Amino acid sequence: MTSDNVRLAHEKSIREGTLKVLNRLEAGRQSLRSILRDYRAENAIITTIFAGIEFLSISIIRFRNTIDFYLSRGSGPLNKKKLPSSTRNLLRIAIYQFYWTNVPLSVIIDYLSQLDRQCIPIMKRIGQVDIGKALARLSNEERLSIDLSHPTFLVRTMLDNLGENETIELLADNNNVPSSYIRPNLLLSTPEIIEEMNEIDGIDLESNPVEKGIFRILTGLSQIVKSVPFASNKVLIQDKASYLTARVLDPKPGEFVWDACAAPGMKTQLLWELMKQEGRLVATEINPARYQVAKDRSKDLGLEDVEWRLEDASKNPVENADKILIDAPCTSTGMVRSHPSYKWRLNKKSLFSIMTIQNKILEGVLSAYSRSPGTEIVYATCSILPHEGESQIDSVIDRYNVELVDIPELDRAGYTDFACSKKVRRLFPHTHRTDGFFVAKMRIMP
Ligand SMILES: C[S@@+](CC[C@H](N)C(=O)[O-])C[C@H]1O[C@@H](n2cnc3c(N)ncnc32)[C@H](O)[C@@H]1O
Repeated sequence: MTSDNVRLAHEKSIREGTLKVLNRLEAGRQSLRSILRDYRAENAIITTIFAGIEFLSISIIRFRNTIDFYLSRGSGPLNKKKLPSSTRNLLRIAIYQFYWTNVPLSVIIDYLSQLDRQCIPIMKRIGQVDIGKALARLSNEERLSIDLSHPTFLVRTMLDNLGENETIELLADNNNVPSSYIRPNLLLSTPEIIEEMNEIDGIDLESNPVEKGIFRILTGLSQIVKSVPFASNKVLIQDKASYLTARVLDPKPGEFVWDACAAPGMKTQLLWELMKQEGRLVATEINPARYQVAKDRSKDLGLEDVEWRLEDASKNPVENADKILIDAPCTSTGMVRSHPSYKWRLNKKSLFSIMTIQNKILEGVLSAYSRSPGTEIVYATCSILPHEGESQIDSVIDRYNVELVDIPELDRAGYTDFACSKKVRRLFPHTHRTDGFFVAKMRIMP
């Protein structure tokens, strides 16, 4: 085959694979990540083709609102809901390739003619859409929701809490691929491992740590993932916000620390490292499958002496701890750069049910420790919603014998207009180059 033919065959395999992935996603039983994992396991495909399928399907989910807006304009009388799911997904691929990656319309029409001829007139109409004109007729909130591809609820909440300019910056940055960070696992290695990694061909790490022991990966993420130090857990990839959150608890050697919502155990590893493996660290997790994976992986990370327990953190399973980390389950709306599908699964019902769990854990811990003055508790979520941050803290702070502790190491206060605003902290993708996180630190008073 000529190199042109090889390229065309690759492009065809990527389109077909992406179509299968999107069709499975539409069936609604699995997350995008697990569909991609299964697809790779079931199909003998080369790495570059799988990477292409992964990139294309994640990009289409990332820009789903905008793509579907084009689709609804182009499908005209054929209401998009009446199109078979597979036709709709094929058109989503075509729209993304036409508007985002500049594939010529003639090339797109050519492949549509081989796969599903009814797409051709629709795609021709889509190719004529004047999006600027179409968006101009919408309200501000709807326009941002389509232009920046986020659900209207998220747009409205951000407009209320960040104002228009910053909302646009945040939502636009949410559509970028995130920065990745690497740190040495000091339970199994030394700080020098980072210099060694930097010597590997293709890997470029920012020369200074961005925050004490964590480095931004400038290039070479795929080489790192294939490297021996990564495979043997001597280096770890972790978002900077997740790393900083665990540091805010500031555990010391010899203390008794409880990591209340611990799986998969990334913060547990850091807590034990900061404790210099002295003292007692109990990690609890309610989900049996996640507990088992975290417990097994824990040994590979160098955490032999950490006690893992399958427990509900809201039911006071660990007494007498000096410091407690509640890294609560949440909507993960701070992580939509790496997991764009998280923004589309957000709805009132799921938000209220997750808020109830957060509140139960927070109240359970605060009431169990209300007679243990001095105990320090960090509550965190990887969410940009005030419902899972400031509102949760405001709902408990006056009802328990607890004070908010300053967090000078993080620079940005919480959303305004909450009682806790000045003392709590937020990290954002567009300002901190991290996942979006909320962090509050409390101390039980005498
Ligand atoms: C955000 S994740 C924790 C991430 C982890 N701290 C890390 O850094 O790797 C939240 C975890 O809390 C667990 N969880 C939810 N409800 C819980 C409860 N009532 N008690 C203990 N764990 C809970 C979830 O199953 C999930 O694994």
